[in-house]
Amino acid sequence: MKIFLDTADVPTIKKHFASGLIDGVTTNPTLIMKSGRDPEDVYQELVDLGIPDISMEVVGDTVTMAAEGARLVKKFGKDKTTIKVPCTPDGLWVCKQLSKDLIKVNVTLIFSQAQAILAAKAGAKYVSPFVGRVDDNSFGGLCLVKDIAKVFREHMVRTEVLAASLRGVRDVGRAFEYGGDIVTMPPGVFEKMYKHILTDQGLELFDKDWKEVQSHTQ
Ligand code: E4P
Repeated sequence: MKIFLDTADVPTIKKHFASGLIDGVTTNPTLIMKSGRDPEDVYQELVDLGIPDISMEVVGDTVTMAAEGARLVKKFGKDKTTIKVPCTPDGLWVCKQLSKDLIKVNVTLIFSQAQAILAAKAGAKYVSPFVGRVDDNSFGGLCLVKDIAKVFREHMVRTEVLAASLRGVRDVGRAFEYGGDIVTMPPGVFEKMYKHILTDQGLELFDKDWKEVQSHTQ
């Protein structure tokens, strides 16, 4: 069970990576735009922080995406760099070429089991079904994760299911329960994973009782 953060906000990633619970980061053009920063400055800082797996999205035609993917891998290293391509004929062609060179590819914008099958055939390391956006369109985002994980398991496909576009902590648990290998989430969702009202109440009582114990033993 791996947890990735879905953001390009380096200080927030740094804070949560220090917990030892974060296995990687996914970015996309929207997240980079929101950061207001040069994408490659962001990637460099994440590499320097030691983030083990960083998804960097490429755009454009096949030639541009393939060249950009190869350049980014050369610049940031094969271990930490994952090239993110869209689930289109062009994206999957690029996925196939990069995968042949043992470059990790994350095929993004997956909305059906059929798309995930094609991405796996193209050699993807990860497929990213967009749970929240599927839910927004009134069909089951988590069922999509389940369907993809099931077919991969039955056919012993090595491509991993990276559940993306998650909106809440409940989605996180269910995505793993339904066979997702990795879950990527906004930092706000990760922060909420720690929280439970009964933990807060229980801790308050334990703290109070511990003070009582100390007052008797001193
Ligand atoms: C996945 O890699 C995407 O970056 C992301 O999860 C999309 O999430 P959104 O639907 O909340 O934009």
